[in-house]
Amino acid sequence: MQPGGLPKLSLPHMKNIVAVASGKGGVGKSTVASNLALSLCGMGFKVGLLDADIYGPSIPLMMGIQGQVDQATTPLPLDRYGIKLMSMGFLVPPEKAVIWRGPMIHRALTQFLSDMAWGDLDYMVVDLPPGTGDAQLTLTQSVPLTAAVVVTTPQEVSLIDARKGLEMFREVRVPVLGIIENMSYFVGEDGKRYEIFGHGGGQKLAKATGVPFLGAIPIDPLVVQAGDNGMPMVISHPESATAGAFRDLGKVVVKNLALAPSEAPLPGLS
Ligand SMILES: Nc1ncnc2c1ncn2[C@@H]1O[C@H](COP(=O)(O)OP(=O)(O)OP(=O)(O)O)[C@@H](O)[C@H]1O
Ligand SMILES: [Mg+2]
Repeated sequence: MQPGGLPKLSLPHMKNIVAVASGKGGVGKSTVASNLALSLCGMGFKVGLLDADIYGPSIPLMMGIQGQVDQATTPLPLDRYGIKLMSMGFLVPPEKAVIWRGPMIHRALTQFLSDMAWGDLDYMVVDLPPGTGDAQLTLTQSVPLTAAVVVTTPQEVSLIDARKGLEMFREVRVPVLGIIENMSYFVGEDGKRYEIFGHGGGQKLAKATGVPFLGAIPIDPLVVQAGDNGMPMVISHPESATAGAFRDLGKVVVKNLALAPSEAPLPGLS
């Protein structure tokens, strides 16, 4: 029986629903979610990307699509770069604040997932807001999540919060597919690697919690530009090492999901 005793949504047309999460804000969840979704699409899969950040949706800007979904007539996700997208940002103008309580967040997210014509999807990537709040609660209690990917940066402050996020998924029996370390290192013009935020934090966290380490994404100023211009790295700079790192992430996500992550708590959880 799942917590709360509510039935989960039935979403059989979505083969894998993968949440991209972290305890901390600003670590690159939305960047990872959009580039991961595009990498999966590049592998030939049918992909959706749901922006579950109701208060601060960033997918419309990052994917360069500010269009409006007409809720009354076309409950269709928008199409961009071959993937299907939905975001609160398609319903509310960017400058307008959404001031909602938990039940409204719950309603919006469940409606986005169940009432829209997503079609058949191999992967639905869900970009979560930071923390362990209402969106996480809805996702873990009412949505048949396949797994969660936890994003962290190498600093201790980020790792502590990433661990909290990770343990939250475990508590509600959502398998954690692994940890991705973003802003991991910087490659200078001299070709050397500079580990500006420290070394190996993501790997250590993976080891301590007994989940796989899924890879490292470098710090790359082009990532910021790409996000702000609405053309994620995988689209705007496909030849870059950073885009390559995102594609590697896509491959490892597919591979690890195929191994059917178990729902049982993994070693490392006391
Ligand atoms: N690897 C990277 N190299 C350089 N900049 C990055 C990298 N990853 C993300 N950024 C930048 O960091 C900022 C925060 O990224 P993003 O919005 O993806 O984080 P987030 O975790 O989704 O934030 P929030 O918690 O607010 O939802 C953005 O400006 C983004 O372009
Ligand atoms: Mg975000």
